[in-house]
Amino acid sequence: MSAPNVIRIGLCGLGTVGQGVWKHIDRARHELESRLGVRLELAVAAVRDTSKQRTVRIPAAKLTDDPIAVASDPSIDIVCELIGGTDVARDVTLTALALGKIVVSANKALICKHGAEIFEMARRHGGHFLFEASVAGGIPIIKALREGLVANRFPLIYGILNGTCNYILTQMEDLDVPYATVLGDAKRLGYAEADESLDVHGWDTAHKAAVLTYLAHGVWVPTDRMVVEGIDRLTPADFQHAATFGYGIKLLAIISRDFAKNELSVRVHPTLLPESHVVAKVSGVFNAVSIKGDVVGTTLYIGRGAGQDATSSAVISDIVDAVSILKNDRRAFITARKEPAAAVSSTPCRLAPPERIHGRYYIRLTVKDRPGVLARVATVMADQRVSIASVIQNRAERPDAASLVLTTHDSNERAIQATLTRLARLASVLEPPLLLRIGDFPE
Ligand SMILES: NC(=O)c1ccc[n+]([C@@H]2O[C@H](COP(=O)([O-])OP(=O)(O)OC[C@H]3O[C@@H](n4cnc5c(N)ncnc54)[C@H](OP(=O)(O)O)[C@@H]3O)[C@@H](O)[C@H]2O)c1
Repeated sequence: MSAPNVIRIGLCGLGTVGQGVWKHIDRARHELESRLGVRLELAVAAVRDTSKQRTVRIPAAKLTDDPIAVASDPSIDIVCELIGGTDVARDVTLTALALGKIVVSANKALICKHGAEIFEMARRHGGHFLFEASVAGGIPIIKALREGLVANRFPLIYGILNGTCNYILTQMEDLDVPYATVLGDAKRLGYAEADESLDVHGWDTAHKAAVLTYLAHGVWVPTDRMVVEGIDRLTPADFQHAATFGYGIKLLAIISRDFAKNELSVRVHPTLLPESHVVAKVSGVFNAVSIKGDVVGTTLYIGRGAGQDATSSAVISDIVDAVSILKNDRRAFITARKEPAAAVSSTPCRLAPPERIHGRYYIRLTVKDRPGVLARVATVMADQRVSIASVIQNRAERPDAASLVLTTHDSNERAIQATLTRLARLASVLEPPLLLRIGDFPE
């Protein structure tokens, strides 16, 4: 079969990312086409409202409100699913893959929920599903894991995967202002969605952690099997206390694997990181991912994790890969690139039980300002064999209350959760305890 001269691209979705892809392909068309040796035709774009004003100029004849028609059009070679959500996006993706097409996607929620079905559909019909833009925006983290680091196994991957949360945490830390104030500003500036819950409760980060886990370890870990905690209970005082100990606070995804026990743990939670740690210095909407490979050692990737241009950069890199697949032998690509090496080569791993997830902890308690309270707290912790490393006591915001901040020596998730449950039951503890993990990651 001779290689095609024209590659026809159909965009499903022409919002923030879709318009960026259109704009940047138009802008870089000459260079891309001369590198690839084909003509790239932005053939059609499916939207909800064809009469909406857009920032890119598109002939009316190229707009449709029927994304399934784009996915099933035999003249479209590459379908970019940039709609978002998991309903229409799933239909578009499966329709195109069932026809053996190449689908490019930025949709981590879709991959997390329907990844197994999507990859199976691609495998069965000789299609391809490329998703560089789904994790860490403009950082080519999928390519790093799948290609650049293919010789490695990955005992530890961690990082900042949500720019909205990192922006909020950075502002709280730098300006000493409450969460709600920063969230309001972030919405006005367009850094946070009108419904912020997916971001601030940690679920968006968990979706991305699931994708990275699949690539690194070949297993789908449902988000309800992960520890997922958000940033909405943090206060400016937590940043002050953390700073007293020499730490900053970041929302991290942490994927760790013990190869000897064949156990995996996937967690998303606010984490204290030493101020000197390079990831603690990653601020605003930027993302950072640290990958430890058993061959290469630790590698670190920092860049814009979202936004029109960064995300388009990743989508276009997948489009270029898709063109290479179409121009060359599809089967060669399947063998070399399609599946994560871990999925093929390793035996399935188990999720680590809580008693094997170790670390140091930060606990903030709002307690009655009375004598003997600290002793009762210390007794509960001693009963669970959780050893206290330090205590700070301050006046709390509510009257007759004190804020107790404790850090622990090395403990484990089972012991610390049992401790929190018992502390929450003490009559002298006035609010649910806040737990933060202390990240002791070697650089
Ligand atoms: N924005 C980012 O920075 C970013 C970063 C990384 C990944 N992503 C992912 O990229 C994807 C797209 O995000 P986005 O920010 O570009 O979303 P968006 O701005 O909301 O755009 C969504 C587009 O899909 C269209 N659409 C929605 N429902 C449709 C339907 N039923 N039929 C046809 N078209 C439909 C919309 O049409 P109308 O324009 O007519 O409403 C719009 O053009 C999502 O999966 C998101 O998670 C986004």
